Amino acid sequence: MIKRVLITGANAGLGKETAKQLAAHPEVEEIYLGCRNIDKALAAKSELERITGKSVFRIIQIDVCDHSSIRAAVQTLDRSIDALIMNAGGTGGKSFDRINSDGVTEIFAVNLLGHSLLTQELLKAGKLTKIAIYAGSEAARGVKEMGMKRPDLPTSSEAEFAAICDGSFFGKSQDATVPYGSIKYMGALWMSAMARQHPQIKFITMSPGATTGTEGFNTLPIFKQYMMKGMMQVMLWLGKVHKVEVGAGRYIEGLFNKELKSGIFYASKKGLTGAISDQSTLFSDLSNEAYQDNAYRAIQRFL
Ligand SMILES: NC(=O)c1ccc[n+]([C@@H]2O[C@H](COP(=O)([O-])OP(=O)(O)OC[C@H]3O[C@@H](n4cnc5c(N)ncnc54)[C@H](OP(=O)(O)O)[C@@H]3O)[C@@H](O)[C@H]2O)c1
Repeated sequence: MIKRVLITGANAGLGKETAKQLAAHPEVEEIYLGCRNIDKALAAKSELERITGKSVFRIIQIDVCDHSSIRAAVQTLDRSIDALIMNAGGTGGKSFDRINSDGVTEIFAVNLLGHSLLTQELLKAGKLTKIAIYAGSEAARGVKEMGMKRPDLPTSSEAEFAAICDGSFFGKSQDATVPYGSIKYMGALWMSAMARQHPQIKFITMSPGATTGTEGFNTLPIFKQYMMKGMMQVMLWLGKVHKVEVGAGRYIEGLFNKELKSGIFYASKKGLTGAISDQSTLFSDLSNEAYQDNAYRAIQRFL
């Protein structure tokens, strides 16, 4: 039974829609909305209560780019959670490649470093009991339709992964979509390493798939924003992307589908929508245990 779930980035987009869908599950008793901004969290909570007619939502203030905020959030949790949905993330804002005080880029911090620390702290405190879902992306295995290449790591060594963390791997790029795919790839590898280290917990990387109706592109430069939003709208008409209800539905499937296996990265079998499959059948590096451990160890350097 999954009774208590924490979702990061729950005040908008996929996170908020997931909270809404979870409230309809009779076994779910408490949904923790992990948000960095209290005003946005309060607005999301009252909207969710109004739409669902349920009072199962609690707010946990958490900024996944701030380690002290993460540690405080874990302490604040008065009971253990059964499930964690690591959803906060995206293209990292206007200064996505700025190095923060932990020595990693903003885009790495929001998508991966903070969630690694959060999972580690929850496990240390005995406050995560059943399942962790990480928001993956098809960008981790390349997306021809969007002009995104598959991450190309010559050796997949620990040093190479560390260079993804601090951004040095990418040189001077003005395009957040370049590091994004490699970071999501590294996230999937990290999850697989965690699955082997903690066999009592299920670790599933799940891509919501190409999802319209979220705020995901809002921090891109204005030209890129219009280009991406326009392209998504056309792709929605063509049936090549889906709405937020479908994207959030994938997280829900990750939580409740007992057929899905720990340590596997699930995303669209083909393209960016439709049926899901184990992505290592499309990109075999994902199932390489040495690469998984290298990604894990590189992250540990920054924690
Ligand atoms: N949409 C897609 O097509 C798609 C496809 C594949 C994967 N994904 C992944 O799905 C996840 C959600 O994407 P989305 O499209 O729903 O994005 P979104 O609408 O922009 O929502 C992102 C959420 O993350 C929160 N957030 C950002 N930085 C944070 C931080 N430092 N600490 C805590 N919360 C933070 C945002 O809060 P604020 O309002 O405070 O900024 C917001 O609630 C991301 O990990 C994304 O990479 C999305």
